[in-house]
Amino acid sequence: MASNRSSDSIPFLCSCLLLLLLSCLSVSEAQGTPAIAKGLSLTFFDTSCPKLESIVRKQLEKDFKADIGQAAGLLRLHFHDCFVQGCDASVLLDGSASGPGEQDAPPNLSLRAKAFEIIDNIHRQVHKRCGAIVSCADIVALTARDAIVLSGGPDYKVPLGRRDGQTFATRNATLANLPPPFANASSILSSLAKKKLDATDTVALSGAHTIGKAHCSSFTSRLYPQDATMDQTFAKDLKNICPQNASVDGTTDQDIRTPNVFDNKYYVDLMNRQGLFTSDQDLYTDSRTRGIVTSFAVNQTLFFEKFVIAMLKMGQMDVVTGTNGEIRANCSARNSGSTLLSSVVDVAEEFELSNL
Ligand code: HEM
Ligand SMILES: *[C@@H]1O[C@H](CO)[C@@H](O)[C@H](O)[C@H]1NC(C)=O
Ligand SMILES: *[C@@H]1O[C@H](CO)[C@@H](O)[C@H](O)[C@H]1NC(C)=O
Ligand SMILES: *[C@@H]1O[C@H](CO)[C@@H](O)[C@H](O)[C@H]1NC(C)=O
Ligand SMILES: *[C@@H]1O[C@H](CO)[C@@H](O)[C@H](O)[C@H]1NC(C)=O
Ligand SMILES: *[C@@H]1O[C@H](CO)[C@@H](O)[C@H](O)[C@H]1NC(C)=O
Ligand SMILES: *[C@@H]1O[C@H](CO)[C@@H](O)[C@H](O)[C@H]1NC(C)=O
Repeated sequence: MASNRSSDSIPFLCSCLLLLLLSCLSVSEAQGTPAIAKGLSLTFFDTSCPKLESIVRKQLEKDFKADIGQAAGLLRLHFHDCFVQGCDASVLLDGSASGPGEQDAPPNLSLRAKAFEIIDNIHRQVHKRCGAIVSCADIVALTARDAIVLSGGPDYKVPLGRRDGQTFATRNATLANLPPPFANASSILSSLAKKKLDATDTVALSGAHTIGKAHCSSFTSRLYPQDATMDQTFAKDLKNICPQNASVDGTTDQDIRTPNVFDNKYYVDLMNRQGLFTSDQDLYTDSRTRGIVTSFAVNQTLFFEKFVIAMLKMGQMDVVTGTNGEIRANCSARNSGSTLLSSVVDVAEEFELSNL
């Protein structure tokens, strides 16, 4: 009797679990929310550093009140971090091809110096409050999220628990992983596909150009000679800002409609042939991405939804977790002797084992 019942209940239990699994799968597929990477969690610092997110938010409210342009700087920093050997804060290392000490990285990456200072200041406050348990990589991810929110964009929970990498981002890795602004949609799509980002992710992430500024050197090749896909008035205005062979590299807003607001106007710009870079405008020219651009231009809710999904994917690329990497004491430098120390420990352990 008892064995009968249990053998009956096993397939019953199994089919229940299967149904549950299937419904879970279809729900997450419908929302498209990416899975949380192994080692990261939404509650990582809930007990060990409950004030973490409010420290970050409060400081950024002050920083952006002084200069809202810094929001763009921080968002771009997270992108550069994640695309070059994963979100491991290698972008912050003095000695990386985009780090604060690098003045002539090819391409001149023009990351804002102030963004590095903002990260350092928050990192200092967090470590003072909670001890050295929060990585620079997590702080970069949180500041990017808050940059979006405080500029009017969507809010989302950031999976935390990243650790800081110990290897520099080389010039070659930087060049190979960050697509240039003169790339067309084909090459942007294939470059991001290598990072498991699809066409929707690519169009959504490019929407980060709804805030921030760009230097003339990033787009003058579209002015002299003038790119046929560019709106005439827009081109004329850009030529005034960026004269040919100018000795100073001027800057301009990336989104002419609402330069400091995180909204869907970037896509409206593209539909009006007012995209700044080839990598922007070609998303509207290319038939594979044109429909996505239009759908975001007419529906900001849809853009926000897809942008959050893409940011969650980007923010978890090749993360360092667990006991790998380290928690840097200074975001610009690896903890001194850390690799040396661990190899000393390894040697000591081997020594003891061989003496047993
Ligand atoms: C898809 C390929 C991308 C290309 C080719 C690209 C290229 C560029 C270039 C050339 C600049 C201007 C740099 C300058 O002239 O000073 C820029 C600025 C910016 N990018 Fe991108 N980007 C891409 C994707 C992204 C992504 C995925 C994000 C974030 C999610 C992002 C966020 C930003 C922001 C916020 C700025 C303004 C920075 C500031 O004002 O300091 N970009 N991008
Ligand atoms: C980029 O070039 C500008 C102007 O030439 C310079 O002021 C800045 O320090 C450079 N930044 C980087 C990261 O190379
Ligand atoms: C970097 O790339 C250049 C050109 O592609 C190549 O000649 C050089 O050997 C590379 N350097 C390293 C350290 O991989
Ligand atoms: C896009 O750029 C790549 C690399 O420069 C080039 O080979 C390709 O022909 C271009 N595609 C289109 C459709 O222009
Ligand atoms: C800019 O420089 C190019 C190449 O050096 C030259 O051919 C051109 O005449 C210059 N244009 C102007 C407007 O000075
Ligand atoms: C806009 O997108 C949202 C989110 O996907 C969707 O729920 C809504 O129905 C769309 N609105 C219109 C008018 O299509
Ligand atoms: C952090 O590291 C950088 C690079 O080694 C160094 O210049 C800076 O002084 C350090 N900051 C502190 C507060 O120790």
